[in-house]
This record gives sequence, C-alpha cells and structure tokens, in this order.
Amino acid sequence: PRSTRLGEDGELLFAGAPVSHLAARFGTPSYLIDEQQVRDTAREYREALPDVEVAYASKALCTRAVLRWVAEEGLSLDTCSAGEIAVARSVGFPAERMLLHGNAKTPEDLKAALGYGVRRIVVDSLDEIEQLGALAHGAQQVLIRVTPGVAAGAHAAISTGAEGQKFGFSLLDGVPDNVDAAVEAIKTQPGLRLTGLHCHIGSQVTRIDRYEAAARRMAEVLVRVRDTHGVTLRELDLGGGHAVPYVGGEPAFDLGGYSRRLRVALAYECAAHGFPLPRLTIEPGRAIVGPAGITVYRVCAVKRGSRTFVAVDGGMSDNARPSLYGARYTTRLVGRRSKAKRVPMTVVGRHCEAGDVLADGISLPADLHAGDLLAVPCTGAYHHSLASNYNQVGRPPLVGVRNGVATLLVRRETEEDLSRRDLG
Ligand code: LLP
Repeated sequence: PRSTRLGEDGELLFAGAPVSHLAARFGTPSYLIDEQQVRDTAREYREALPDVEVAYASKALCTRAVLRWVAEEGLSLDTCSAGEIAVARSVGFPAERMLLHGNAKTPEDLKAALGYGVRRIVVDSLDEIEQLGALAHGAQQVLIRVTPGVAAGAHAAISTGAEGQKFGFSLLDGVPDNVDAAVEAIKTQPGLRLTGLHCHIGSQVTRIDRYEAAARRMAEVLVRVRDTHGVTLRELDLGGGHAVPYVGGEPAFDLGGYSRRLRVALAYECAAHGFPLPRLTIEPGRAIVGPAGITVYRVCAVKRGSRTFVAVDGGMSDNARPSLYGARYTTRLVGRRSKAKRVPMTVVGRHCEAGDVLADGISLPADLHAGDLLAVPCTGAYHHSLASNYNQVGRPPLVGVRNGVATLLVRRETEEDLSRRDLG
C-alpha cells in the first residue's frame, strides 16, 4: 500500500510515522488508518468518474472522522442502519447526499432516515414499501433494489446479485414479489416517489465485464419499467464491490476501465431503446478505505512444532475475514531489521478456535520472537466494522495518521466497557 514505506533501519513508516512508535503509544493490536490516502482515493474516484455520484459505503468503516473526511472530499454516503445514520448525523453529513439500504429495515431504521431527511431509500420488499409509505409524509424518494441475475464477488457470502439470494426484487415474471409488483406498490403510496433502480452484484469483484453485464441488464429494466408501467426513471445506482489487492500480485481494480466500459454499455443500451441516460451513482466501500489501513500486532509466542506458529495478541475478533470468507493476508515484521533466513510460518490469533488463522504459510524471519511487532496490510475495510468481543476481548483502537501525526479516532475498548452492559 502507498501509505507504508520502509525506513533506513528497517522501521516501517506508516503515513510518515514509525509503526513501532505508534504501537508503543497506542498499544497492540491497533488499527491504523492513513487519512491522506483515504482522501486521495476519494479524489481519484471523483476524477475518474466526474459525472457519477460516488457514495461511500459506510459499512466498510463507519466512524465520525472517516465520514468527515469523505464528506469533505465530496462523496455521498450509503448507510444501512439507524446506527450508521446516527454517526452521519453527528458529523452533519448532508442528508441530500445520503442513501439507506437494507433487506430488513426496522421501523427505527426507516424513522431515522425520514427524521434526518435521507434523500433516497432503497426499498427491498413489498412489506417495506407499505411500512415506509405509512411513515413518509412528503414525497420520499425511493429506488427499487433489483436482483439483476448477475453474480460476482470473491465468496458466496458476498455475492449478492444472483437470483435466489436474499437481496432485491426478482426480474422473473412468475415470481409474486417481483420488480413489477414493487413499481405498482410504490404507485399506490402517496408518500413515496419512485426515482430509480439499484443493484449491487457483490463484493471484492475484479471482473469489469460483470459490471458491464449488470449495467446492460439494469438499462433493460429501466426500459421495461417505462414500457410496462409508463414511468421513466432517471437514476441508476450500480452499487459497490470494487476489489482491492490484499496480498502481493493481486491485480488492482481498473477504475479507468470500469468508468469507460460502464459508460459505453449504458449509452449503447439506452440509445438502442430511445431511453434517456440515467444519472449514475456507485457505492464503493472497501476500495475507499481498505488499502489505507493496517493492523499492528505484538507476537505473544512462537511455537516451533510440526509447523511454526506465530501467535499474536489479536485474531478473529479484529479480523473476521479469514474465518468468514477464507480471505488471505500477508504480514511483515516491523520495528527491527532481521537478516535471518525467511521460513514459512503460520500467523494465528489468540482465540479459542483452530480456525483463528490470520495468515497461513507466509515467509517470516527465522529469528522472530515474542515481543516482535507484525503489521498486516489492507485492513481499513470490514475489520473495525466487523470486530467482535469474542472471548471477552476489547476491540482495538482506530488511530488516524496524517503526515506523521497520529490521532486517536476510536479508543480501545476496556473491560469496563464490556462489563457495563452485563446487568446480571
Ligand atoms: N452497496 C451495497 C448495497 C452493499 O451491500 C455493499 C456491501 C456495498 C455497497 C459496498 O461494497 P464494497 O465496495 O465495500 O465491496 N464483509 C465483507 C463485505 C460485505 C459487503 C457487504 N455489502 C468482506 O469483508 O469482504
């Protein structure tokens, strides 16, 4: 990642600050996030897609500072709960640049969105349309989430566009709760105004042809809605899912190619049916914050058995991704230089499960020992936000770093924090 650089003495500099100093000051494990890199990536997106609304998917990492940075860089915001809306609200994120998602929105989620004036709510069931209709007073803008029948993503658990998974309205004619039923249901609700369609094909997607296919399919649905229901929709939201490289050698997402090929696919399909080009929104989460973060751990023990295990002071509670999605990571020694031979080791966490493996079969110096620091790159997205308290372990802090200056953004969770909710 761009934010890390090797110093003269083997020290790893993160956004200009020595990682070992950050570890001494904030403890381990700690999540570090490079503010400038988040801002630069947001800018790259805006420059590559100048006429597209780029909504940061806050599920990737939702803290006040991060939402402030992306707001300042001109991004919009995709939220999926009353909790995320509350964070956005606390930093005054402009409600006209916000969306709400979810296949099971609670009354609290819907009320939070209406109360703050979130401009677009992406509806995902007929029940939701009815519930939202009953709560909405003005002309609440809604988008219909469509199941485009185009699937992509690094793992079945994050592949969300295929027919037969839980998200969106089906395009199939024989299905009762399909897109046509959704359009008709919204028409009967005076408090709702249908302005567009949405789809999200999956996450950690590398293939741009999948996005092209989704764009073409969605253009067909816009035409179908016009021809069947007499409604011309002007907005198309194509979701997020842009992949980031976690381990060396993985390709980076081709943002330029994505921008070009989406445009061509849409222009072609719209022109073929005499349909006006819709206004586009996209929702990258991981791509904005993932590569800008690293996690720093301290080695608790090195055990040289039939395999060499390096046990660190964190694990599946701060990085659930290997156990949930079979995700792969690298790690590197930081804070000292080692001339020792590199040997294969397996970096494991502290939790009481054999599956608590952070990085399997990676090369680390043979003289690695308890007390050493290890850094895992690319942990800015879906690490802090997916963290748990498994084994009654407090969640790590989030430290923002910019030009060598570190700021504690979210403090470490203490035993007191954990016991506060236990009333027994
Ligand atoms: N829009 C919608 C409607 C979504 O559901 C998601 C992610 C995004 C946008 C942003 O996707 P991104 O650009 O970040 O891939 N925990 C999993 C990822 C789950 C993604 C869920 N939805 C992981 O760590 O791989």
